Amino acid sequence: MTSACGIDFGTSNSSVGVCDAQGARLLSIQRAATSVPTALFFSFDDDSTTFGHEALERYFAREPGRYLRAIKSVLGAKLFEETTPVKLKRYAFGEIIATFLRFLRTAAARSLGAPPTSVVLGRPAFFVDDDPEADAAAERQLEAAARAAGFERIAFQFEPIAAALDYEQSVDAEEIALVADIGGGTSDFSVVRVSPERSRLRDRREDILGFTGVHIGGTDFDRQLGLKSVMPALGLHSPLRRKGLDAPSWYFSDLATWHRINFLYDQKVLTEVRGVLRDSAEPEKIERLLRVLEQRKGHELLADVESAKIELSRADLAELDLDDSVADISLQITRRELDAAVADSLRRIRSRIDDVLRMAGLTRDSVSAVFLTGGATRMPAVRNCIAAAVPTARLIAGDAFGSVATGLALDAAKRFA
Ligand SMILES: Nc1ncnc2c1ncn2[C@@H]1O[C@H](COP(=O)(O)OP(=O)(O)OP(=O)(O)O)[C@@H](O)[C@H]1O
Ligand SMILES: [Mg+2]
Repeated sequence: MTSACGIDFGTSNSSVGVCDAQGARLLSIQRAATSVPTALFFSFDDDSTTFGHEALERYFAREPGRYLRAIKSVLGAKLFEETTPVKLKRYAFGEIIATFLRFLRTAAARSLGAPPTSVVLGRPAFFVDDDPEADAAAERQLEAAARAAGFERIAFQFEPIAAALDYEQSVDAEEIALVADIGGGTSDFSVVRVSPERSRLRDRREDILGFTGVHIGGTDFDRQLGLKSVMPALGLHSPLRRKGLDAPSWYFSDLATWHRINFLYDQKVLTEVRGVLRDSAEPEKIERLLRVLEQRKGHELLADVESAKIELSRADLAELDLDDSVADISLQITRRELDAAVADSLRRIRSRIDDVLRMAGLTRDSVSAVFLTGGATRMPAVRNCIAAAVPTARLIAGDAFGSVATGLALDAAKRFA
């Protein structure tokens, strides 16, 4: 029986891996899926809490309740100290994260026969940019949540190192690889020496030539695209009549930020927005905003933006048709518009890749392979950005949603053997 597992607790999606004599594998968590949305739904109808795909379905079926996404983004942030209201109760974010980890552990128990007691949790290079104290606090908060979820032995591994361990399973000769893991919340990079022989070593510190990251990921791209495409129709930059001002812009940045949407449903905010509506020079726009907030459709709106973003990985043009009850908007977005919306973020990502190469003491031509994982590496603009940083390397697409958990499982097997 395996009592150790690896958990990739992702901003957008989570997975669990284990490693036994047969090797590393991902566990089915829900309806045979090995990767589930990092989502919770607290129903107001039957007071149940559901997770993953089920949470998503209940929210999109418009059941009354509270839907939470991107809870990882709260780790290390001031928001972590706040509570979020669910019906008559208020929940601390630590409690919510623990509840989600318990769901993963219980799901793992169904495959393993008993709940795992030891875990290697993935963590980004930085939970919080440029603030080592907040970053250390984030790790402690996640550790406390894992303990509350029932894990007794808890270790951490950097997500881009875990992904490298997964990549190493497929190499047949020693090489220097750049691993790029661009997920929902963070972009993480490592430069590693991988080789079939060295993969057996327990201590791999010597082979990690550099790693770094930045707090930019797919949820930022959703926000940037949302602000550019949809939010103007809901009143972003829309003038007020008397004061010579625009409608407050923070409504729109919160509405375009997965983990902040719920704060806009507060009665105080709704009252304020009604005041803005009375003063608006373009009331039809603020009415849309108010409808979205009153009907708690913020996540639905942002999910439509995310779907358009994902469609633009495949096509040059995506339709964004919001449900009439939400905002009666129909837009066409081109890939060029998406690329322009995320251009600044990509410049910052590129500079981190240059940093990690410098850290490793390598020129860009000495990297022979780039291993890509994380959902956002499917975006052509992201791939182009990485390819431009290491133009002579081959790009290898890993399992976008499973590599980190597989690598964490390999790590767990060594640490807790
Ligand atoms: N085909 C696609 N094109 C563009 N983006 C995509 C595609 N598929 C998924 N994404 C995006 O990838 C992100 C999720 O990726 P992933 O599951 O790797 O993140 P995560 O592991 O949850 O986050 P993190 O590691 O940053 O905590 C989301 O923002 C999602 O919109
Ligand atoms: Mg990830």
